[in-house]
Amino acid sequence: MMQTRFTRLVGCELPIQMAGMGGIAIPPLVVAVCRAGGLGMLAGTGSSPETMQRLLDDVRAGTDRPFGVNFLMPYLRETACVDAAAAVARVVEFFYGAPDAHLVERVHAAGALACWQVGSADEAQAAERTGCDLIVAQGVEAGGHIRGQIGLLTLLDQVLRRVRVPVIAAGGVGSGRAMATALAGGAAAVRVGTRFVAALESPAHPLYVEHLVEARAQDTEVTHAFDLGWPDAPHRVLRSSLDAARGVADDVIGADHDYFDPRRRSPIRRWQVLTPTVLTTGTIAAMPLWAGESVDFVTRRQSAADIVRELVDEAAQLLREHRMAGSAVVIQGGSLHDAAAAGMRVGRASHPAHPPDASSTVAVTRSAWCST
Ligand SMILES: Cc1cc2nc3c(=O)[nH]c(=O)nc-3n(C[C@H](O)[C@H](O)[C@H](O)COP(=O)(O)O)c2cc1C
Repeated sequence: MMQTRFTRLVGCELPIQMAGMGGIAIPPLVVAVCRAGGLGMLAGTGSSPETMQRLLDDVRAGTDRPFGVNFLMPYLRETACVDAAAAVARVVEFFYGAPDAHLVERVHAAGALACWQVGSADEAQAAERTGCDLIVAQGVEAGGHIRGQIGLLTLLDQVLRRVRVPVIAAGGVGSGRAMATALAGGAAAVRVGTRFVAALESPAHPLYVEHLVEARAQDTEVTHAFDLGWPDAPHRVLRSSLDAARGVADDVIGADHDYFDPRRRSPIRRWQVLTPTVLTTGTIAAMPLWAGESVDFVTRRQSAADIVRELVDEAAQLLREHRMAGSAVVIQGGSLHDAAAAGMRVGRASHPAHPPDASSTVAVTRSAWCST
């Protein structure tokens, strides 16, 4: 148990949100993350209302815990899908488009919470103004398509100064240390993508996972190259996939099969925006191998529950240590007012190494941001 504003609002046990990931965020993985205590997110993009309903039914058959559905704005054609998702899911979330009050109203009307993944503080403020209940701040460290231009810590700082709703930190969060840093900095939860691509319940193609296991953060690159179907949208991939795609001469490099009817197949072209899964055949290494800097922490294939446990155990340990150290933080009197205003408990130093003096040196204890 690790409670934050996110867990209280959403109703899950742990402040971890799985990223909605095209091709990857299918029911078995969503269910596994929910069962592990996080918020599983279903990818809703590109589905017809009928397919959406089948996907929702599959998740509901696996868990009665809260889950979410993610929609990519450039591909959102049928708002009936949003209505269907909002009638069942706890959170309906959007990415890669200006925050839209009508969509947020639709989500609320059906009884779900609305969330928007943003890449800047301006966009976060716009999302809050449209009535969003949650905001995901995505730093450039993220895998897949990237909305903003700055790193997570700076973005988180900017966003937290501008909005009041709970903020989820995304981009490069692959370890408990990164999770603890984000939570200690004021995030209500972390969003994890790349690590779950390598989960045992993930449908990612085995070769894709192999490449993730071998790669380090410095092996990722932001590019515009994989643009067939989604132009002018920067994304972070493994550099090896860029090199492999450049080296391929053919236009058609593989085929993809339908999730519900694997007999239905469509060709995959070079530079096409598509995630290679177990239903994909062809030159997998030359397809976009989306990866965040968090790939550093993908060291083997693990169950979603193991990934969640690993992140939470390390984060909880670090936060506990920090909280103990926190009681010995000493600041000068001039900052006392700011510290108290920021919600810290403020009192006179009692540590022999820091005796209180006339200039009112004080000890500050950060009030607990989570309980484990
Ligand atoms: C394979 C993959 C597919 C993604 N697809 C989507 C998507 O469909 N919708 C979305 O909102 N974000 C998508 N993202 C971005 C994530 O929402 C999130 O910002 C990112 O995974 C966080 O960084 P991390 O991968 O380092 O954890 C995707 C990311 C990855 C790795």
